[in-house]
Amino acid sequence: MSLLGLIPYAKQSGTEHFIEYMWVAPERRKAGVAKKMLDYVFDHLDDGIERIYLYVLTGNNPAICLYKRVGFVDDELPQPLLEAKPGFYEQKMLLDLKQLRVRRYEHLDLEGNFPVAVR
Ligand SMILES: CC(C)(COP(=O)(O)OP(=O)(O)OC[C@H]1O[C@@H](n2cnc3c(N)ncnc32)[C@H](O)[C@@H]1OP(=O)(O)O)[C@@H](O)C(=O)NCCC(=O)NCCS
Repeated sequence: MSLLGLIPYAKQSGTEHFIEYMWVAPERRKAGVAKKMLDYVFDHLDDGIERIYLYVLTGNNPAICLYKRVGFVDDELPQPLLEAKPGFYEQKMLLDLKQLRVRRYEHLDLEGNFPVAVR
């Protein structure tokens, strides 16, 4: 058995979570694994969590596309990684979970069970 992917995340405060990293095995990429892992995290967070933060290197297009695809937006301007990685910048991104939950509920029927529309 081999590792398919991982996504360490941690509670920052009463209402905020922080995703530390994401990784999917190279031979299993672009098949929806990362998106499924993020959906799992979103589904298992406490109701009280309102925001998720993460940092991504500015040139990491697969990761940036993934995060934007699930609803993250840029938060603050990119910051240089002066000592850790000279010449590189990292972007802080934010997902507003309250908005995400509203968008998800819009897809449910009155019983709250079946998707009736997918955007
Ligand atoms: C970033 C990473 C986790 C994506 O994992 P993945 O399982 O391949 O991603 P998914 O298949 O779930 O893709 C979901 C969305 O991400 C975007 N995406 C993923 N790979 C992409 C690529 N190579 N180029 C552009 N967009 C990409 C797409 O929008 C995709 O949605 P779509 O297929 O509907 O278009 C993976 O490439 C990885 O492990 N990279 C190395 C580690 C890393 O950079 N981690 C992030 C650190 S912050």
